[in-house]
Amino acid sequence: MVGLLGSVLFGALLGFVSIHVPGLAVEVKVPAEPLSTPVGKTAELTCSYSTLVGDNFALEWSFVQPGKPISASHPILYFTNGHLYPVGSMANRASLLQNPPTRGVATLKLSDVHPSDTGTYLCQVNNPPDFYTNGLGLINFTVLVPPSSPLCTQSGQTSVGGSAALRCSSSKGVPRPAYNWERLGSSTRSLGSMVQDEVSAQLILTNLSLTSAGTYRCMVTNQLGSAACELNLSVTDPSKGRVAGAMIGVLLGMLFLSVAAFCLIRLQERRKSSKETYGGSDLREDAFAPGISQQTSVRTDCSNGLLKSAPFTSTVKTTRSKRPMVI
Ligand SMILES: *[C@@H]1O[C@H](CO)[C@@H](O)[C@H](O)[C@H]1NC(C)=O
Ligand SMILES: *[C@@H]1O[C@H](CO)[C@@H](O)[C@H](O)[C@H]1NC(C)=O
Repeated sequence: MVGLLGSVLFGALLGFVSIHVPGLAVEVKVPAEPLSTPVGKTAELTCSYSTLVGDNFALEWSFVQPGKPISASHPILYFTNGHLYPVGSMANRASLLQNPPTRGVATLKLSDVHPSDTGTYLCQVNNPPDFYTNGLGLINFTVLVPPSSPLCTQSGQTSVGGSAALRCSSSKGVPRPAYNWERLGSSTRSLGSMVQDEVSAQLILTNLSLTSAGTYRCMVTNQLGSAACELNLSVTDPSKGRVAGAMIGVLLGMLFLSVAAFCLIRLQERRKSSKETYGGSDLREDAFAPGISQQTSVRTDCSNGLLKSAPFTSTVKTTRSKRPMVI
């Protein structure tokens, strides 16, 4: 089995060597690693070849967008019959490092690179009748772009005990930027539990407390730079509203009670003095109720104090009518 495999390999190697005669075959060399250049700068896509240049020598650079098959490539420039022809949308930015490219160097210079220049570049050398190898080199090229200013937004229930999502989104940035949320203040710190996708990052804050409120900053960073946005998170406390409401209720109740007590005392004083003056009996007093003149006099007494509103008067009246039972 191993022997069979070995002999097959040996046969293949022999066949390869017999075809690959130095000086006849076209050998194109391109960098094995992908290349990258910051946006706006000039890129040099290195390509070299070894062949004896004949009359029919031709060089062609072409480009294909990421994710598309090589067959969909379109030319950028070509050299044939001793002339260089830049073509297509990159024509005014494309040139060769050496012109004419007949001495083994076919490096492409691309100035003012755009983000849309990212893709695969094909360096193809044709030197008929030297067809033994395909004479093609592929370079994956990426235009680096700093992250664009991100947008900070928030959603969710920003009250105590609720949860909020802080979202940060930067539309550009190659390579894909990293996101980092932090809370500003006396102790600036990074925050955990972040969900990140390709163009945004979401920080989920759960079980919010009043101390969760503050300024949050999102930093977007890649190897070309960073950008940031900030937002102010305010946390409302619904129980505080209830406490305030309860306090107002208690205060109103206390006010009411003290007014009632005040009126009661005044009433008692008045009754005492009327007893002394007229020497009237309890019977006469009871027969009085609920007369208009009595009500009016009580009302006048109380209005010397704080109130003039009818509800208090009528309540005083009620209290008074119960008095004989209390005594
Ligand atoms: C170029 O990128 C494609 C995917 O876009 C990959 O399949 C291919 O192997 C890469 N080639 C080189 C030479 O890096
Ligand atoms: C929410 O926070 C409060 C105080 O900050 C804590 O007492 C409570 O246990 C927390 N609840 C949950 C579900 O984590």
